[in-house]
Amino acid sequence: MGGRKRILTVFGTRPEAIKLFPLVHALAADPRFEGRVCVSGQHRAMLDQVLTVAGVAPDHDLDVMQPDQSLDALTAALLTGLGRVMDEERPDWVVVQGDTATAMAAAIAAYYRRIPAAHVEAGLRSGGIRHPWPEEVNRRIIGTIAALHCAPTETAAAALRRETVDPATIHVTGNTVIDALHWITARIAERPQLVAGLAELEQRFAGKRIVGVTSHRRENFGDGMEAIAEAIRRLAARPDVAVIFPVHLNPNVRQVMNAELAGLDNVALLEPLDYPHFARLIDLSCLMLTDSGGVQEEAPALGKPVLVMRETTERPEGVEAGTARLVGTDAARIVAEAERLLDDAAAYAAMARAHNPFGDGRSAERIVELLSTT
Ligand code: UD1
Ligand code: UDP
Repeated sequence: MGGRKRILTVFGTRPEAIKLFPLVHALAADPRFEGRVCVSGQHRAMLDQVLTVAGVAPDHDLDVMQPDQSLDALTAALLTGLGRVMDEERPDWVVVQGDTATAMAAAIAAYYRRIPAAHVEAGLRSGGIRHPWPEEVNRRIIGTIAALHCAPTETAAAALRRETVDPATIHVTGNTVIDALHWITARIAERPQLVAGLAELEQRFAGKRIVGVTSHRRENFGDGMEAIAEAIRRLAARPDVAVIFPVHLNPNVRQVMNAELAGLDNVALLEPLDYPHFARLIDLSCLMLTDSGGVQEEAPALGKPVLVMRETTERPEGVEAGTARLVGTDAARIVAEAERLLDDAAAYAAMARAHNPFGDGRSAERIVELLSTT
């Protein structure tokens, strides 16, 4: 149909799907656009969980995932596959999110075709290229290519300006993760059975304080994962604590966690939870222990303290707001920081304040307006 802008939204992993479904919904509802969706299938089951919950039916699915995939083989498959889709679709814009291999390859494939790319969640920087690895470099590459930078916060926008990105192309939109969280919270309120899958654990752990855990960063493989498992084992030895840990499907995570934690009384190792159940887990937890990017944004929004098991963060806003704390991957330090929150009510209260530096739930709306006028 003449006149409508054709927008190709590209994503491949769980967090990209969560942070882009609000935009996919908004584009589909807006007659000014023809929204097209390409998933790379960099993740499979974990991506499909989000597509199902959000009701997104991709127009293209490259299905690239291989077990324990290497970064170079993955990137090569993405680049050629995404290029083919762009040749077929000839979009006016390609939209990518975050810092995954899919996002980086899509930005490069768009650049090779002189198609403008819009970057959602632009400007996050840890300052070091080894943490997070390889995401810090992925997002810098996208930053040099994108024609529209949708920064979640003023801090992220400032980072882009420091890199001499044209200020006219940088816009603070908030993070679409808050849109996603609002959407899913409303769905759960309408249909509480969406989170019924946790009821049995809620009963089993009644009276205990629940610590929610996730972990998957490549730079934590090996020693870091062992230390995280050790910290969880020590925390779960307390009779007043129960750990609920949906384990990422990456074999480098699962082998360690299954070997170290399976069968412990106060630890529930689960398959990855779909988004409503994960939102419910944050709600049930008194604190979150994580190395995830998205969880660092969601937990503060829901008023839950989050201990970040990483050396650096590209999301300083939660730390500055006092709801997140960097604790590294030393087992003793993780346990000490978690116990401080469990045993010191004042320390807990100081962190457990709902604070939302990452957005107001209207980011997708702003991005749609930018795409309509740019
Ligand atoms: C990827 C992203 C990372 C993001 C994370 C979110 C890159 C380089 N990494 O890391 O930035 O934070 O996703 O979770 O883009 N697997 C499955 N089923 C799935 C998903 C993964 O079996 O649904 C297994 C496969 O063996 C796969 C492996 O996990 O090869 C690794 O997946 P990959 O996307 O390469 O890396 P992640 O660590 O998930
Ligand atoms: N998440 C989920 N189920 C889980 C664990 C996480 O739906 O079992 C969601 C979580 O709410 C967040 C996103 O997945 O929105 C984070 O993904 P992940 O930690 O895999 O990647 P990162 O954010 O670190 O890139």
